[in-house]
Amino acid sequence: MQMEFDENVPLAPYTTLRVGGPARWFAEAASEPDVAMAVAFARDRRLPLFVLGGGSNLLVSDGGFPGLVLRVGLRGIDATGEGHLGGKAAYSVGAGEPWDAFVAYAVERKQAGLECLSGIPGLAGGTPVQNVGAYGQEVSQTIHQVRAYDRRALAYVLLSNAECGFAYRSSIFNTTERDRYIVTRVEYLLTPDGAPTVSYQDLKLYFKDSEATLSTVRQAVLEIRARKGMVISQGDRDSLSAGSFFKNPVEPSATLSRIAAALQLPEESVPHYPAGKTHMKLMAAWLIEQAGFRKGYRLGAAAISSRHTLAIVNCGEARARDIIALRDQIVEAVDRRFGIRLQPEPVWVGGPLPPPERI
Ligand code: EPU
Repeated sequence: MQMEFDENVPLAPYTTLRVGGPARWFAEAASEPDVAMAVAFARDRRLPLFVLGGGSNLLVSDGGFPGLVLRVGLRGIDATGEGHLGGKAAYSVGAGEPWDAFVAYAVERKQAGLECLSGIPGLAGGTPVQNVGAYGQEVSQTIHQVRAYDRRALAYVLLSNAECGFAYRSSIFNTTERDRYIVTRVEYLLTPDGAPTVSYQDLKLYFKDSEATLSTVRQAVLEIRARKGMVISQGDRDSLSAGSFFKNPVEPSATLSRIAAALQLPEESVPHYPAGKTHMKLMAAWLIEQAGFRKGYRLGAAAISSRHTLAIVNCGEARARDIIALRDQIVEAVDRRFGIRLQPEPVWVGGPLPPPERI
């Protein structure tokens, strides 16, 4: 089928936050030649190109996007070899496959490695970009290689796990090589009949008195996420969100005593996890609460989720400027209290991020 390029397509319906203006051009790629064609279309017209996956981690500006938005819809899950590569099973997954359906598929086949990543919205192609992680697993542990279109070389390439440069919520795709690659397939290496990962506190507690299998861990994660309003479901107000709105800050270890002093608390009471020898990861949700915000706090048409302080939700009619106004209020308050500037987690679409009054 011939690829269509549509004009002035509203982007809000393509995002879980349901915010933002139109794309000047919009196209959907169903195959690898389509991806190359879309890149050529944008190049010929000197348009910026933005690649859209499931839209679960995006904040689109009210002015929309002045170039071509390409939705990557390549489908297909191929079992590309079992028993090779150290007894692992390889699955090559089209970037447009819904992520959670693939996790369910892997769990049904008793393949371990993704069970803790259940209930995450979005498409498989987005998982390497921000190294999706939750409940003790992240995709960098199972991704073997990524197939992508290189917009610089105008050719398809295969990138090994090491070449993806994975770190906490990051990879070359959203840092050093941002805008260079369009992911079309991801190959995951899973462990046949492997044990589930039960390392995260919430899960250990859940399985205190019962047996953890791949499928019970999947169920547990779905339950825990639903409790925190982190599963997209119709009729759930808290699910008009982009998931975690802030990254958990990684700070020098000395910051811990500063926070404890500011709150007149013993250091042990400040939730933190080691991150290398000299740094630690702090919990953004906890810092936000200590800076005076409560779950359900509302500013205009934007609010903090009533079930998880890390999520900002659209109360129904929010525009990007409303979301940004709440973001700024939170960032400033945490900075004033603790000297830590929280970094937003969702990707901003629509050119350089202007100050709130100009969005
Ligand atoms: N906490 C609060 N208030 C809350 C929720 C959490 O103070 O309302 C504090 C508590 O100290 C709690 C700690 O935060 O012990 C951790 O909370 P949680 O387990 O919910 O994890 P998180 O750090 O808030 C991260 C990921 C989530 C992922 C969960 C579970 C980031 C930015 N977020 O959240 O990922 O689902 O861990 O592993 O790393 C996402 O990125 O969109 C996302 C949902």
